[in-house]
Amino acid sequence: MLSGTVLNGTVLSLPFLPASLYCDEAMHHWDAHSYATHYWHPVAATSDLHPGEVLEVSLLDQSLLLTWPADAQPRAFRNRCPHRGVAFRAESSSGKPCRRLVCPYHGWTYNLRGELQAAARESEFEEGFDRKRWGMLELACRIDGPLIWIAFSDQALPLENQLQLIHAEASDSWNAAGQQLRVSQQNLACNWKIAHDNTLDDYHVAIAHPTTLHREQGPVRDYVHRFSQYNNLLETPHSDGGRFLTFGLPPWSHLLVWPDGRLAFLEFLPNQPDHCTMRLRLFAAADGRDAASADTWLQQLLTFLEEDRALVESAQRGYSEDFQPGPPHRLEQRILHWQGLYRERLRADGISRFERSQDAISAFRR
Ligand code: FES
Ligand SMILES: [Fe+2]
Repeated sequence: MLSGTVLNGTVLSLPFLPASLYCDEAMHHWDAHSYATHYWHPVAATSDLHPGEVLEVSLLDQSLLLTWPADAQPRAFRNRCPHRGVAFRAESSSGKPCRRLVCPYHGWTYNLRGELQAAARESEFEEGFDRKRWGMLELACRIDGPLIWIAFSDQALPLENQLQLIHAEASDSWNAAGQQLRVSQQNLACNWKIAHDNTLDDYHVAIAHPTTLHREQGPVRDYVHRFSQYNNLLETPHSDGGRFLTFGLPPWSHLLVWPDGRLAFLEFLPNQPDHCTMRLRLFAAADGRDAASADTWLQQLLTFLEEDRALVESAQRGYSEDFQPGPPHRLEQRILHWQGLYRERLRADGISRFERSQDAISAFRR
């Protein structure tokens, strides 16, 4: 465990991450190509895909295929033909019935398990051609709650650890929310870490969202924080009764749970050093809500997220101006908890130059 990192509710004593981590092209590449591989990623709702269907999705600029072979579990593959790398299908927003995948280039044909079934003029390859050697490249794939998850690496954290506090504190709602009601996606002009920090920030809500999120979360004096190794949680009493839960999850995600079982899953995916993609998914139990109330709910959430946009885009401009973040407040401890995880990954990959450069800046300013 890192010095200064104390879990189970105690405030962490590390400073905020240095601003250089939020602006640098090389760090953006590391976030998308190394940090990301240590975690699972939700790529579709379970309601998007059914047995016998195929769904194309993209994650971090990579095209993926989800398939659901009959009498089996969903599977995930890179959407690249093993022959010469052509994609099998174009992206669509929901699963399509499909018995076999046929590459449009030379016609190699696969079943939904990713096994090569036929190749054109197969007897004419130069060397003995073994279909078994040319299966589609598969990724780990799991269902958990209302989402289908994939991992780029078999070194990824166990999904049970990544979602530990959700399973412990909200398993009934998580497992019952089988219907995805809405998906909203938009770009923010900030590094994903600015947006992630902001959504872990319980210090700003009363000030920046007085008539929106603050009304859901209630008085600051009632805030209760919980931590597992990889997750954090803000628990507040809701005005409708019961608990309103706001989970922070690696790598860049959040889950909001209402007392009536509704869920909002929010992600900030890196797409450039100073831009990210915000994706919001709304879920309810399968017996569901009508379309009008789902639209109202989505609009309420987008209103508070739009309040955040001005702040996070302004903070990004500040971080890009040779800026050093100030002291963390007690109500920013969920940010520090996540940043501790991020630091551990940096150090595991031997990246320490940013910490050193920040030390140098601090020494200069003293
Ligand atoms: S690239 Fe797919 S069959 Fe040749
Ligand atoms: Fe906010």
